[in-house]
Amino acid sequence: MKGIILAGGTGSRLYPLTVAVNKQLLPVYDKPMIYYPLSILMLAGIREILVITNPEEQYLYKRLLGDGSQWGLSIRYASQEAPNGLAEAFIIGEDFIDGDSVCLILGDNIYHGHQLSELLRRSASLESGAVVFGYRVNNPERYGVVSFNDTGEPVSIEEKPEHPGSSYAVTGIYFYDSKVVSYAKSIKPSARNELEITDINNIYLRNGELKVEILSRGVAWLDMGTPELLLEASLYIMTLEKRLNCQICSPDEIAYVKHYIDADQLRRIAAEYGNSDYGRYLTELAGSRK
Ligand code: TTP
Repeated sequence: MKGIILAGGTGSRLYPLTVAVNKQLLPVYDKPMIYYPLSILMLAGIREILVITNPEEQYLYKRLLGDGSQWGLSIRYASQEAPNGLAEAFIIGEDFIDGDSVCLILGDNIYHGHQLSELLRRSASLESGAVVFGYRVNNPERYGVVSFNDTGEPVSIEEKPEHPGSSYAVTGIYFYDSKVVSYAKSIKPSARNELEITDINNIYLRNGELKVEILSRGVAWLDMGTPELLLEASLYIMTLEKRLNCQICSPDEIAYVKHYIDADQLRRIAAEYGNSDYGRYLTELAGSRK
C-alpha cells in the first residue's frame, strides 16, 4: 500500500499564523505538525509516501523530510495548485499510486492511543474496498458524518450536515483499493467547489465496500485547524511525553524500532539534533540497543 499526506490548504482559520508558514510546518509542541501524520503512515507499515503541498512551500517540506532515505522510506512530492478538495489527492497522485492500494492522511491530523498500530496495520492490509474511521465528537456538523442502521451498518455519509444523523465523524485517514483513482475522476465539485472525499466514501458505501471502524475512547484523534485546537494538541503531546518520558510520533524512533534504520544511522540523526531534548532522547535510544 502507498501513502499520501495531504499538506496543502490555506489554513485560513489560523491566520495570521499561516500567512507566511504553511499549517503543516507549524510546531506541535516539539515537532513539526507533519511528523505526526507521517508517523501514522509509518506505524501502518507504509514506506512509499507522496507528500502533496502547495507549490510555493514545497521546498520547505523537501528541506524537512528529504527523500525519506534517512528513515528507510521513499518520499516523493507533488503540488496541488489550489485547495480543490481532499479527493483531488488521488488525481494528483495517480502515477504515484500506479494501480496499488493507497492510504490518504490529512497533514493536520494526529492519532494516538491504545492498539492503534494494530488497527492501522490491519487497515493497510486491505485487498479491496475501503476502510475509514468513525470517531464520536461533540460537533459533528463540522465533519463528514456517518449514520448507521439498527444493526450498526453504515448507511450514509453526509458532509458537514446541518442536522447530523449521528455523532460519528469520519476522521482524516482513509484506506482505499486502487479503484479510488477512477472514483475521484468521476465525481464533480461540490457546492463549495471542492472534490469531496465524502463523495468517494459514498460510492464505496453504495457498492457495499465501505468498512467504518469505530475508534474507541482509548484513542485520541485531534485535528489542528484553529489556534485553540493547535494549542490543545501541543499540550496533549507535551503532557504525555513528559509523563511517559518518551516521544509521541517521532519518525526517527519509529524508523529505528521498525528496523528501517540501525543504531548508527539513528546516532547520526541524533548528532544533528544534539543540543535539543529531542536529540538527547534519540542519542539515548540509540545507545540503549547497540
Ligand atoms: P482544512 O482544514 O479543511 O482546510 P485548510 O487547511 O485549508 O484550513 P482552513 O479551513 O482554515 O482554511 O483541510 C484539512 C487538511 O487537508 C489540511 O491538512 C490541509 C489539507 N488540504 C489540502 O491539502 N488540500 C485541500 O484542497 C484541502 C481542502 C485541504
